[in-house]
Amino acid sequence: MDIREALEAFRVLLTEQQERVANMNTEKTDFSTKECVTIGVVDGDGIGPIITKQATRVLKKLLADEIVRGSVIIKEIEGLTIENRMAQGKAIPDDVLAEIKSCDVVLKGPTTTPHGGTLESANVTMRRELDLYANVRPVCIPEQGIDWMFFRENTEGEYVLGSRGLELPGMAVDFKVTTDKGTRRIVRAAFEYARNNGKTHMSVVTKANIMKKTDGKFTAIAHEIAAEYPEITVEDYYIDIMTANLLKEGLREKFQVFVMPNLYGDIITDEAAQLQGGVGTAGSANLGDRYAMFEAIHGSAPRMIERGMGQYANPDSILKAAALLLRHICRSEAAEKLENAIANCPLTVKSDGSAATCEEYADALIATL
Ligand code: IPM
Ligand code: MG
Repeated sequence: MDIREALEAFRVLLTEQQERVANMNTEKTDFSTKECVTIGVVDGDGIGPIITKQATRVLKKLLADEIVRGSVIIKEIEGLTIENRMAQGKAIPDDVLAEIKSCDVVLKGPTTTPHGGTLESANVTMRRELDLYANVRPVCIPEQGIDWMFFRENTEGEYVLGSRGLELPGMAVDFKVTTDKGTRRIVRAAFEYARNNGKTHMSVVTKANIMKKTDGKFTAIAHEIAAEYPEITVEDYYIDIMTANLLKEGLREKFQVFVMPNLYGDIITDEAAQLQGGVGTAGSANLGDRYAMFEAIHGSAPRMIERGMGQYANPDSILKAAALLLRHICRSEAAEKLENAIANCPLTVKSDGSAATCEEYADALIATL
């Protein structure tokens, strides 16, 4: 690609991004009044089918009466596998995407993301196709006084054109996109969460000293919206020092809600999850106005499968995601039951095979429901 071709490619990207913003939908699904909620389950790759199978059993048990009454439908969706995606050359094959869009909410196992090439991550595609702009990740360590809620922008930033960078001779360029509308809605979601949950501290995390235009905009909009929430103290932090602060006892306990652009949120939520016991222990909600998707925050663990240890995959992360899903569709009683069952399950699962299998763990958990 030469500079003239690069400019043309850039023109196309900018036009597409303007169209994306113009088409942002704001119609909200109201689950408190919806007569029938369809939950899609997508199992994914590697340990995905193993952990989602158990999560589906748990959901079916918790929602048994509603499934009989017809107010909840659980739809198992196949075909979101790396083999099928590669064969079709599509991050999410069309028929699978149509099935997903026929649901209201989706529980998704981890999917494999190939390095390089042009096949986009299925996560990124799904977040974009369903416009799931808020990635919400709780991390809670009560014995250390930690109760954090991360609001990661999920549809733009470094990700939206992550597979659309340009290569010129001896040079590669990627793009980061931050829009007013895209920033407003994630910041608003974070502040609304804070207000509705009695939180009084918001950390706005960027690298606005370096990413001046995009993160500069993010920070400016965050403060504009903060003015509507005078009961909430807002502090700006750069992502580098925030990664250090999360390790700093005596300081980290004061953090409550965080809001940040996509890539920083990706990185820091793994760090936070590790403090809680590992990425296998955290769930993640991807929320839009119309749809929502809930997933484990870890990957598909191909090495566990290669070693023949897949049955020892820990389902906690996807079970926590299932609890977030239940809360989102206004089934808070079922959500609470599940959260208590996870916290009090008599068995543990260890990836080295020294404890229960994923299935044994689910059996024990279901027995306590
Ligand atoms: C996550 C994951 C994804 C991301 C990958 C699988 C594309 O790391 O959900 O945090 O980078 O967002
Ligand atoms: Mg990540």
